[in-house]
Amino acid sequence: MQIAALKESHNDENRVSLTPDTVKLFQRLNLEVTIEDGAGLNSGYPNELYIENGAKIVSRKECLNADICLCVKMPEEVDLNILKDKTILIGILNPYENKKHINALNNKKIISCCMELIPRISRAQSMDVLSSQANLAGYRSIIDAAEQFGKAFPMMMTAAGRVNPAKVMVLGVGVAGLQAIATAKRLGAVVSATDVRSATKEQVESLGGKFIMVAEEENSDSETAGGYAKEMSNDYKNKQAKLIAETIAKQDIVICTALIPGKTAPTLISQEMVETMAPGSVVVDLAVEAGGNCPLSKLGKVVDHRGVKILGYANVPGRVAKDASALYAKNIFNFLSLIIDKENNKINLNLEDEIVNAVVLTQDGSLRLEQFK
Ligand code: NAI
Repeated sequence: MQIAALKESHNDENRVSLTPDTVKLFQRLNLEVTIEDGAGLNSGYPNELYIENGAKIVSRKECLNADICLCVKMPEEVDLNILKDKTILIGILNPYENKKHINALNNKKIISCCMELIPRISRAQSMDVLSSQANLAGYRSIIDAAEQFGKAFPMMMTAAGRVNPAKVMVLGVGVAGLQAIATAKRLGAVVSATDVRSATKEQVESLGGKFIMVAEEENSDSETAGGYAKEMSNDYKNKQAKLIAETIAKQDIVICTALIPGKTAPTLISQEMVETMAPGSVVVDLAVEAGGNCPLSKLGKVVDHRGVKILGYANVPGRVAKDASALYAKNIFNFLSLIIDKENNKINLNLEDEIVNAVVLTQDGSLRLEQFK
C-alpha cells in the first residue's frame, strides 16, 4: 500500500504530516512511503532528508493517487475530487468548518479520519493531536509574549539595581495552560492561574504557580464527564470577572487559553480590564480562533490598545512547526498502527473500537458521525 503526505495548501500552515524520522516507522507497517515535493520545507525538513530516510518524492497528482493520504488541514475540494475511490484520508479535517467538503468526500467514498476527534482516553494518548499541538501552543504563547514584552522575565540582582520578575497570569489550565505555566516558571516569572475546574488547582500548584478561583462550592458542577469545562452560570461569570479584574491590573502578561468544546470561547477579559493594565503589558489570546477570551483580540493580528499588546496569532502550533510536525506525524503513526493489518497488507477498520468509531467521519459514501449531520 502506498501512503503519501500532501503539501499543505493553506497559507498559514507551516506544519507537515510526515517527518523524515517517521518514514522508517511507516515502512515497518509495510507501507511504501511518499511525500509531495517540498512538503516539509516550511517546517525545516527538505526533500533530501526524506530521501535519505527512504521516502520517495512525488508530484501532488501522484500523492492524491495513494491508498492513504495524509495532511494537516483539510485539502481543497478540487484535490478531494482527484483522490481515488475509497482512499483513506487522515488529517485535522475540522468538519464543523468544512461542511461543504463532505459531499466531495462522499462522492469518492473516501474513508476520512479526523485526528482531532481521537477520544481523550488513556489508550489513545499517543494519538492525541489536540494535546500534542496544545502543548506546543502553550509553550509558544510565552515565547511570543516575551518577544513583545520590553522587560525581562526573571528577577535579576545586578550592581546597577534589581530587575523585578515578570508577573504572568494564565486563564484556563488545560494542556496549553499547564505548558504556559511551566514555560513561564522556567523563565523565572511569578505565575498565577485560574480555571473553572477545581481539579486544576493541584496541577497549578505542582508547577509552582498560585491558583486563584471563585469559591469552590460554586463550581462543583463545572466539569463534564470527559473532563472538559461546561459553560458557567451568569452569577459565576460575574464573580469570576470580579476576581480577574482585581488581579489583572498587577499582571505584566496574561495568557488566555479558556475553551468550551463546540462553543464560542468564554469572554474573560473585558476592554475595561485591559485598560487597567500598565502600558507595555502583553495579552496572548490562544482562544482567538474560537472567538477569543478578550474582545479586543483580532485573529492573525497584534493589536495595540493604549500601550497593551494583544496577540491573536492564528495556528500557534504552526509557529513551532518542526516539533509540531514531528509530534503530529507520530500521532498519525500510532493511529495507523491501530488500523493497519501489516501481515495481510490491508486496512482493518474495526468500527467497534472506541477510537476508530470516534474518528471515521465518512465511509462508503455517507457521513457517519451524527454531530456533523
Ligand atoms: P480545553 O482546550 O478544552 O480548555 C482549556 C481550559 O480552559 C480547560 O482547562 C477548561 O477547564 C478551561 N476553561 C473553560 N472555560 C473557562 C472559564 N470560563 N474560565 C476559566 N477556565 C475555563 O482543554 P484541554 O486542554 O483540551 O483539556 C480538557 C480536559 O481533557 C482536561 O481535563 C485534561 O486533563 C483532559 N485531557 C485528557 C487527556 C487524556 O486522558 N488522554 C489528554 C489531554 C487532556
